[in-house]
Amino acid sequence: MEAKLFMVSLGAGDIDLVTIKALEVLKSVDAICVPTKSSDKSFSKSLTHKIILKLMQKHEFKKELIPVYSPMRFNPEDWEEEASVVLRACEDNKKVAFVTLGDAGIYSSVYYILDIIKEKNFELYEDCEVVPGITSFSDASARIKKPLCLGDSALEIVPLLDYEVPKTKIFMRPKIGMETSNIKEEGKIYSFENLNFEGEKIYDKKIDRVKKYMTLFVDFFKG
Ligand SMILES: C[S@@+](CC[C@H](N)C(=O)[O-])C[C@H]1O[C@@H](n2cnc3c(N)ncnc32)[C@H](O)[C@@H]1O
Repeated sequence: MEAKLFMVSLGAGDIDLVTIKALEVLKSVDAICVPTKSSDKSFSKSLTHKIILKLMQKHEFKKELIPVYSPMRFNPEDWEEEASVVLRACEDNKKVAFVTLGDAGIYSSVYYILDIIKEKNFELYEDCEVVPGITSFSDASARIKKPLCLGDSALEIVPLLDYEVPKTKIFMRPKIGMETSNIKEEGKIYSFENLNFEGEKIYDKKIDRVKKYMTLFVDFFKG
């Protein structure tokens, strides 16, 4: 049988900011792939490893930890190597987790690795689940009791680069019944209705008219 892979977001560094879902997944897997910046594959420089150790101690479970050398050089060869470690772990185990800091959707190597896994083992990719987490900036906002956006303000996440970059845009707080023609699609829009609630719907397009207040649109950047 094919292994099951989970890409698990660990949150902003405090183990109490690990979600219950992430914890349950980590308790259920056979092995956890843990990124480390050490080329000798020790965990001496791995913040992620420190979180996993504390988590296992506090919640009284123990798992095989597989080091994934992640030098953060934005080098495709590194991602190939990282993906091959995860793929090997999936050959040797029934359930495997790969862990990442913050949320997997925010500048994490998770999606570089998943792109390679998609090419090499489509079934594993299709069945894989990404578990979301609390971002560093959600934690930063909470620490100083300042909202990231409120009322008629917006939130921008800006990578510190000296060139223009494609943007993901999130559109939220619509009025029920509103037409969406003024939302211009620049990348690829998905519409999300009642996420995690009764009547949840995810559309791989922009819906024409808003039916529920709990609707958001994400125009994902084009890479
Ligand atoms: C590769 S990104 C990963 C972001 C992460 N996935 C998240 O959801 O926050 C790393 C950047 O996030 C920010 N960051 C992540 N953790 C942080 C922390 N504990 N304190 C301050 N900034 C942090 C820093 O700007 C850092 O350079």
